[in-house]
Amino acid sequence: MKKIVIGNWKMNPSTLKEAKSLANNIEHGIRGISKVDVVLAPPFPFLRDVGMVAKKSKLGAQNTFYDTDGAYTGEVSVAQLKSIGVKYVIIGHSERRALGETNEMIHDKLQLTLKAGLHAVLCVGERERNHGEAFPPIIREEIHAGLHGIKKSLLKNMIVAYEPIWAIGTGKPATPKNIFEISILIRRELFRMLGRKIALDVPILYGGSVNDKNATEFISEGRMDGLLVGGASLNHRVFSKIIDSIARL
Ligand code: PGA
Repeated sequence: MKKIVIGNWKMNPSTLKEAKSLANNIEHGIRGISKVDVVLAPPFPFLRDVGMVAKKSKLGAQNTFYDTDGAYTGEVSVAQLKSIGVKYVIIGHSERRALGETNEMIHDKLQLTLKAGLHAVLCVGERERNHGEAFPPIIREEIHAGLHGIKKSLLKNMIVAYEPIWAIGTGKPATPKNIFEISILIRRELFRMLGRKIALDVPILYGGSVNDKNATEFISEGRMDGLLVGGASLNHRVFSKIIDSIARL
């Protein structure tokens, strides 16, 4: 499976000019790399311009809405994203859940994204670092609530990102051993829900304080299928280095 690295820019940078320059520099930094699927997920207003710059990388959105059209001030639909070239949608990021996004909304967003033929990245993860309990119940709950009832034929574009909330933006990532164990439990849960064939094909990514020093260990020791990178994706040198180091594994 080709490794996937997603740069989640969150609400950065401040201007279109900076966004285009960041995307350009990343494109330049990864020009020789073909072994990694790179996704750039800028804020909505920058999607189209970043998409025009992005040749090697693919375009990702940080969110979408849970209905197809209608009177929803300020929301953005899957069809709108698709029409400007978005290929990946991050869904249920903990920062969105913290703003009130429910499992039910996340389920509908996933369903619409997958139905449109886009890749859906479902984010799951526990709030507190827990040394005793092997599989935090919240992860099982988020997976079940997110995926229940979605047609199996749609799940080929499904991606799960394990993002422990305590590791996001803290500089304190989970250990490779820790994420390896959790990823096995996530896959076992997918296996139970969806059957072996589908479960084995779902890429599982890790996100939370990934940088150019620790990126490879999540892939080699943690056996992840890719990474979801926040802060470190805003520095083109660091982000390109992460991708390059993974391509060399
Ligand atoms: P971080 O964020 O890399 O800055 O910890 C990861 C994320 O929120 O996806």
